[in-house]
Amino acid sequence: MDINRKNHWETVYQTKNKDEVSWTQKKPIISLEFISDLKIDKSAEIIDIGGGDSNLVDYLIDEGYQNITVLDISEKALEKSKIRLGEKAKAVTWIVSDILDFKPKKKYDLWHDRAAFHFLTNKTEIEHYVNTVLEFVNGSLIMGTFSDEGPLKCSGLEISQYSEPKLSKLFNDNFKKIKCVKSDHTTPFNTTQNFLFCSFVKID
Ligand SMILES: C[S@@+](CC[C@H](N)C(=O)[O-])C[C@H]1O[C@@H](n2cnc3c(N)ncnc32)[C@H](O)[C@@H]1O
Repeated sequence: MDINRKNHWETVYQTKNKDEVSWTQKKPIISLEFISDLKIDKSAEIIDIGGGDSNLVDYLIDEGYQNITVLDISEKALEKSKIRLGEKAKAVTWIVSDILDFKPKKKYDLWHDRAAFHFLTNKTEIEHYVNTVLEFVNGSLIMGTFSDEGPLKCSGLEISQYSEPKLSKLFNDNFKKIKCVKSDHTTPFNTTQNFLFCSFVKID
């Protein structure tokens, strides 16, 4: 466990509200569209990596998905989501873990990551993440990162930008690319951040 990374994120969620962090979305439209396009079963095992206190889980519950897991390094982030969801939070599996320490106990039909993977900036950590995906994703993968036209930092931390070929190359031995979209996210401070979203399906 990287304690500096953990402390950074716990402090962010302890000291900032949703309208004070750049990544907040009222409705995660692109993620929801990508998920809907995949036409996965409502009983699919879904995991949102670095889900933070994103509203994605709320929409997935409302759409009838029954097996949702949200993982984040910050306990405070998940606590905020649980409070927001109230009773509905009981239907979700919450995991506090650094993704680099995560040893899944099951395979996932859908792995979603918006703006968590891009914080990994060294080769070893990126390879570790990719290997976890290769081992534990048996279905679809949706990755959302800052694009090559996006910012170089997020939450004050260095990030890795991705182009479509760069992101695809990480997974294309084992996954078939479905689609990629570049899109501007408008932050709560009315600035824009260019994201790249790609979806992939595991090759049997
Ligand atoms: C920019 S925020 C995005 C949050 C959410 N995915 C969204 O789209 O609103 C990044 C999130 O990733 C989490 N995170 C960062 N590094 C992580 C790691 N190594 N393992 C697990 N979560 C991590 C942070 O705590 C934070 O919630």
